Amino acid sequence: MKNFSKLALLALFIASGTFVTSCSDDDKAAEPASLYAKLGGTTMVADPNNPGQMIEQGRLSYRSVVDSTITLIVSDIVVGAEGNLGEHFAPVISEALSGNATNVAILSDNLTDFFSANTGGGATNVYTGLDMVTAHDPAQNPRMGKKSNDAEYDKFIGYVGAAAGLNGVTDPVLIGEVVAVLESLRAPIVQE
Ligand code: HEM
Repeated sequence: MKNFSKLALLALFIASGTFVTSCSDDDKAAEPASLYAKLGGTTMVADPNNPGQMIEQGRLSYRSVVDSTITLIVSDIVVGAEGNLGEHFAPVISEALSGNATNVAILSDNLTDFFSANTGGGATNVYTGLDMVTAHDPAQNPRMGKKSNDAEYDKFIGYVGAAAGLNGVTDPVLIGEVVAVLESLRAPIVQE
């Protein structure tokens, strides 16, 4: 596995709370399942990346999609091309290619924490990274190669969808919920 496949990116999903519940004779409204629960929740499974360790299935789902998304994005680095997402990640990619994968691993962890904690992952998933405005402003975060615009954000969402498909997340309803969460983060992240 390449160093930079550990990076992370993408993102996330905040529990939308907008799920439609079907009518029922029961007066008691059903608690809507969180996105984290729909992606496997707290069921413990073997961690394919760390033999002998267990991981919550919901967290594993996010980490898998995050890592696949990163792989797609670092491949998108045609120098000088308009809307090239790899350029935003140039500082991170240079570092990884020079043999230092530590911060890529930290980013992967941060992104997985962010998505998990914001979609119902509970106390086992705590996000301690930068807020979304700071993280995506090159003036405040030198690891962000350049600001993102709307077209690049659209492309990013496309990569997340592709990464989800590569990891078996293909239910259109679920994908729609993920896209809704991504859209809810457009304003703070798109800064030009
Ligand atoms: C819903 C969409 C997105 C979410 C939820 C998201 C989330 C995050 C998070 C949680 C971090 C880590 C912050 C930290 O380590 O303190 C991060 C870093 C970063 N993001 Fe995003 N991001 C999104 C979209 C984008 C887009 C569209 C781009 C560029 C095209 C981008 C580029 C970056 C870069 C370059 C970093 C820094 C990487 C590093 O420090 O190693 N992100 N993002």
